[in-house]
Amino acid sequence: MDASLSFLPTWLYTAAEIPARERQRYAERLWHPVGCSSELPEEHAQATQLLELPLLLTREQGTVRALLNRCPHRGMPFQDPRQGAQPCRRLVCPYHGWTYDLDGQLRAAAREADFLQPFNRADWPLSALPCRELGGLIWVAAGPEPLPLEDQLDLLIDQAAGLLEQPRRLLRSNSVELHCNWKVAHDNTLDDYHVAIAHPTTLHREQGPVRGYRHLLSEHGSLLATPWGPSGEFLTFGLAPWTHLLLWPDGRMALIQFPPLAIDRCRMDVWLLAEASQKEGVDTWMDEMRTFLKEDRALVEGGQQGYASGLRPGPAHRLEQRILQQQALYGRLMGLTDSELKG
Ligand code: FES
Ligand SMILES: [Fe+2]
Repeated sequence: MDASLSFLPTWLYTAAEIPARERQRYAERLWHPVGCSSELPEEHAQATQLLELPLLLTREQGTVRALLNRCPHRGMPFQDPRQGAQPCRRLVCPYHGWTYDLDGQLRAAAREADFLQPFNRADWPLSALPCRELGGLIWVAAGPEPLPLEDQLDLLIDQAAGLLEQPRRLLRSNSVELHCNWKVAHDNTLDDYHVAIAHPTTLHREQGPVRGYRHLLSEHGSLLATPWGPSGEFLTFGLAPWTHLLLWPDGRMALIQFPPLAIDRCRMDVWLLAEASQKEGVDTWMDEMRTFLKEDRALVEGGQQGYASGLRPGPAHRLEQRILQQQALYGRLMGLTDSELKG
């Protein structure tokens, strides 16, 4: 059987050693949307997290930076991730008061003359991670040499560059924990075979009949386009590492991500972005998203149980080709050998 036409073996969803390898070979080589440009105004800082790294996003003279939210002196965070973006011109450590510029340079340390060894401010900057803004989102890479962002987002940029750059605000966000490996949730969101069966009154209505589906695959991403409104298309992009970007012709954008928490647990983050004038309909929109994602939750948590019982997955369908595309990319980045792919 041709391995490229088969699903990944189930040990990749259940073996204890996989998260460390995924982090090093897969997640650290890719970019992650960690915030929305509109939510980080000039001279603000916002604490967040990426792959267990405490991050501090700052904006100064228009430039967004991703600094480690960890004081080099004794490790204290500068800001709490539960707070939103905070206005600030300097970052002041709440422990002993070391004070940083928003670009991460140490500006002052308390009682600087009395350190027990020679002290030079330039030796103590905050570490910075690769950080870019694109499509109204802030993208950060956790490793030093990520794939170029334009490569990772190849199909999205190619097919939706104009739509992507429309002005939007983050109108709602929601996070829940799922009891499954992140790949079960990612696979499921790439799965165009189940929609008519599992979401007959929700997502299936939004996407319409299967005969209207249009698929595109690239090296790093996939697209399902379905007719929407009188002449538009509803675009669903599947992106590495565990990201989905939904774009409607009226300018709305939904981002869904499944960052891993453990081999059998992940988080589902949903962000809804649109123009401020579209705020009125956002409760209905979030309710619709929640309803079909709740249907998916039962499926992915059940699927994880099946995988954990030692299944050998069955044949892939044409409408599951977006899953195979992401799995092939995953296999390449992970460096999976032929014998590993056979399980
Ligand atoms: S831990 Fe930040 S100044 Fe001491
Ligand atoms: Fe689904």
